[in-house]
Amino acid sequence: MQGPIGVFDSGYGGLTVFKEIQKKLPQYDYIYLGDNARCPYGIRSFETVYEYTKECAFKLFDLGCNLVILACNTASAKALRTIQQNDLPEGKRVLGVIRPTTESINEYTKNNKVGILATQGTVLSESYKIEMNKFHPTIDVFQLACPLWVPLVENNEIDSKAAHDIVEKDIQRLFDQSSEIDTIVLACTHYPLLLPVISQYVPENVTILSQGELVANKLTDYLHRHPEVETQCSKNGHLTFYTTDDAKSFEANTTIFYGQKITASHLDV
Ligand code: DGL
Repeated sequence: MQGPIGVFDSGYGGLTVFKEIQKKLPQYDYIYLGDNARCPYGIRSFETVYEYTKECAFKLFDLGCNLVILACNTASAKALRTIQQNDLPEGKRVLGVIRPTTESINEYTKNNKVGILATQGTVLSESYKIEMNKFHPTIDVFQLACPLWVPLVENNEIDSKAAHDIVEKDIQRLFDQSSEIDTIVLACTHYPLLLPVISQYVPENVTILSQGELVANKLTDYLHRHPEVETQCSKNGHLTFYTTDDAKSFEANTTIFYGQKITASHLDV
């Protein structure tokens, strides 16, 4: 039976990716699920992120989704592969955001020196290095965990002095690893919101990539290449938003991530 496309994140951040998917592919029905009650995932163990992500993906399957996108980098890094290999019920698919990013990175870097800014969990998983090495083994990857960036965004301190100080120091740390980096991936759902600050501390010749558009383009390709999945996605342009935390505060905080007001409901997973 046809069903909506599920989009999952640990909280609000995945809305930056979802916004682009929905813009590019407005014909489909979508269910967005944010696990706000258990956010952040970026500091949690492999087992915990895997369990939480699996629960949420299965909740989306129960709600009728046949295809679920893990918009969260940490979940993509720590849970996607295991879920794909061990847990998927027949006819259900789960995709992440790391592969679409690493597959197309060669379209951006000219000197094969790429910086990855992400949560601690994503960095420690080495997923970006592993995936990059599969598709583009000549690319050197320089990673930096930026544990303070998610709280800055969550606390709406995007343009504060603290944000400037922290971002400047972290960008310096990344370039201390290699001054030749010519492309930086914002490999965390929250970081695109800090782009106006980040771009002030990154040299002008460096490309800064947010994942939303990239993921939306790759999803479009994927659906073309997989008609057996595409035909299982319902197309009425209907959007549903769920959070595992309080719906009213979810609604109040989503505008900076999604760009418009939404109506959400609480969901237990
Ligand atoms: N959504 C997470 C990510 O993209 C960031 C927030 C969190 O740590 O849960 O890695």
